[in-house]
Parts: sequence; structure tokens; C-alpha cells
Amino acid sequence: VILEPTGGSAGQVPVPESFLHGLREATADRDVLLIFDEVITGFRCSPGGMQGVCGITPDLTTMAKIVAGGFPGGAVGGRRDVLDLLDHAAAADAGREKIAHQGTFNANPISAAAGVATLGIVKQSDACERANRYAAELREGLAKIVRDESLPWIVYGTFSSFHIFTNPERDDVTADQIELGRYDWRRIKAASASPVAKELRLGLLTQGVDLAGWPGGLTSAVHTNDDLEATLSAFRDVARTIDS
Ligand SMILES: Cc1ncc(COP(=O)(O)O)c(C=O)c1O
Repeated sequence: VILEPTGGSAGQVPVPESFLHGLREATADRDVLLIFDEVITGFRCSPGGMQGVCGITPDLTTMAKIVAGGFPGGAVGGRRDVLDLLDHAAAADAGREKIAHQGTFNANPISAAAGVATLGIVKQSDACERANRYAAELREGLAKIVRDESLPWIVYGTFSSFHIFTNPERDDVTADQIELGRYDWRRIKAASASPVAKELRLGLLTQGVDLAGWPGGLTSAVHTNDDLEATLSAFRDVARTIDS
């Protein structure tokens, strides 16, 4: 079983923590590997990733992006008995063939150096907390504008993510229900391709704000109050031009 531990597509389709605990139990009972894809959440939700937050140890973890300091690279961590299958010495000792693991960027020293430097910052500073705090303020600001402008949109997200569900069917749904996984994920995904989502993204681009296309995004430790104000001001202006 492999999943992003805050939910698919960077948490756009959230899973509650209780689901993760249930999965850990069910996979352990059945001797099935539980793999957390922490390519995005790793070193973002907390220095220990989402698993550090929820206290679950998956059998394997995939990491990229922050783990290589933004350079090309990734890493897999986890149970020794599984990772030994990729290890020259362990495979030779066990008298079995090593599983091949080629890659253009395997053992790339620049990526490794960038990763070491970045992880040092993540560990020693409050970078994750700052990014999380900024995202919470951004979500709050966006949600207020949505309310002020009487739009059917829902702003949600956890940690340093934010998502804007444009709710084209005008369903009676709350951010909490979405976060608890109690809303049809197909509707959430379908809304990403809606004309309103495209208008929002394009409108914001004209004001210098580049949302991710779902629409939503991830915040960082270097976003400033000026960025927050500029983003919210652009969002209000654009929201007023969109016919939802
Ligand atoms: C959560 C997640 N998993 C996996 C991947 C794929 O990573 P890679 O391109 O290193 O295979 C991505 C890429 O953006 C991602 O965001």
C-alpha cells in the first residue's frame, strides 16, 4: 500500500490521521508493506515529515524535493530487510542477486550536498513552523474573501498546503468535511478542470501570483507578510471578476 500521508495530490484529497492509523494496523496484520510517499510532505509537515507528526512508522518512505535541497534527487528509507535487497554487500552475503537500481542522478554529489545543507536548516530552524503558519494565515485570508464575496468555494488544507475547491455543483460541503475525507474525491478532482479554476489561475497570473493549477499551492519558510497581502489582494480582485 502506498499513499501520500496527508492525502493524494499534495493533500488535495485529504485522508484523516485515523485512516493512517487504521492502515498501519491493517497492513501490519496482513504482512503488507505500508509505504508513505513523503516526496512532498517529507521535511515539510515537520522535520520528521508526516510520519513524525502522526507517530506512524511506515515500512518504507519515498522522499524527494526537499531531501535533495531542490536539486534532482530522491531517497528511499525504511526497513533494513527490504532495503538490503538493493544493497551490494547484503545481497552478496545472502547469496542472492541484487535488485538493479539504476538512475541518472544516483549518488549525484551536488544533490547530496544541497540535501545535507537543506536538511540542516530544516532541523535547526523553525522553517517548517514558519511555512505552516504562513499557510494557515493564507487559508484564513482566502476563506474570508470567499465568505465576503459569497462564493461557493471552499478553502482547505493542512500544514503548508492550501487548496481551493471551486465547488462548481455548489454542494453544501465544509472544509472540515473535506479534510475528514467525507466528500466525494471525484468531485474535488473534477473541479480542478473546471472553467472557474482556470479563470482563477489565469486571473491571478496577470497579477503576478502563480497558483498551482489544482488550484492551490504550497507555502515556504521565506514567504513574507508582503507576499501574503499581495496574494490576498490579487485573490480578492480576481474573485470579483469571476462568475461562479
Ligand atoms: C507526492 C509525489 N510523489 C511522487 C512524485 C514523483 O517523483 P519523481 O519525479 O521523483 O519520480 C512526485 C512528483 O512531483 C510527487 O509530488
